[in-house]
Amino acid sequence: MAENVNLCATSISDPLRKRPQDGLSREILDLKRRMNAVILAHNYQIPEIQDLADFVGDSLGLSQQAAKTSAEVIVFCGVHFMAETAKILNPGKKVILPDRAAGCSLEESCPADKLRQCQEGNPNFFTIAYINCSAEVKALSDVICTSGNAVKIVNAAPPERDLLFVPDENLGSWVKEQTGRPMTLWPGNCYVHVEFTHAAISKLRQQHPDAPLVAHPECIKAVRMLADEVCSTEKMISYCRQSPAKSFLIATESGMLHRLKKECPGKEFVAAPTETCRCNECRYMKMNTLDKLYDCMRAGGPEVELNAEIIRRARDPIQLMLDISAR
Ligand code: 13P
Ligand code: SF4
Repeated sequence: MAENVNLCATSISDPLRKRPQDGLSREILDLKRRMNAVILAHNYQIPEIQDLADFVGDSLGLSQQAAKTSAEVIVFCGVHFMAETAKILNPGKKVILPDRAAGCSLEESCPADKLRQCQEGNPNFFTIAYINCSAEVKALSDVICTSGNAVKIVNAAPPERDLLFVPDENLGSWVKEQTGRPMTLWPGNCYVHVEFTHAAISKLRQQHPDAPLVAHPECIKAVRMLADEVCSTEKMISYCRQSPAKSFLIATESGMLHRLKKECPGKEFVAAPTETCRCNECRYMKMNTLDKLYDCMRAGGPEVELNAEIIRRARDPIQLMLDISAR
């Protein structure tokens, strides 16, 4: 993989930060070389982490990268379920992450025992799990999907089965609209994306009448209805790059704006507001800092550890997703 040598981390005058940031970025890249590691980062990570990662992308792109990396160590800058997915795809490799506590409200909403109980109520259920769930939930599922391939995955589901979609009811209802396929939806949601409201976004649209609204499918229906494009974080990049528009309203986690600005120079991006504030930050994604990244690489942990049986059972539905995506 081509090494990213961009060391221009923005200097932030935060007194809580322990070390000069550009020097730290250089040390992280040096450690990475010595460990034969690859650094994967989600689009919601802080700019300094995005700028030194080997690959920055959405959940689908990150799983694809994890599936094909030849590095010995995977350093995953995202949230815990993403690092777990990388471990399931690479059971023989070391997968480490800056903060073990970086969870996800969607993952929390769907405990494996509750899912098992629900599945027992209908033996004809075919369970499609959004990748934002635990390894145990993946192990109970027939196929995994991300926001980038959910429509394709649902369209490929066996027609004679009853579909159970877990754990995001908003992504699930959007996919139902796109595919026309009835599905039972698990009542979970992303605590960040449900904060966007029809009223707040309508007001913003009046202030920027020419700017298309791009929304993540984890947003509620009343917000999705206002959007010009509903898509995964990766597709937001290609949509904004190709569009002739000069400014865009972005209804997703605010970390997305860094990559949009970098990859679409000359265009303006406005983070959609919630009712109460403009900063839509995922507290889990933002647990990762350069200091914690450096420390985890020095210490070789926290490390993702999963039992072999869970890895074996969770691997098939992830692999099925990757195979369907590649078709
Ligand atoms: P993407 O796969 O679209 O990046 O979404 C991941 C996520 O956690 C959205 O909140
Ligand atoms: Fe989970 Fe929402 Fe954070 Fe994405 S933004 S990791 S769905 S809590």
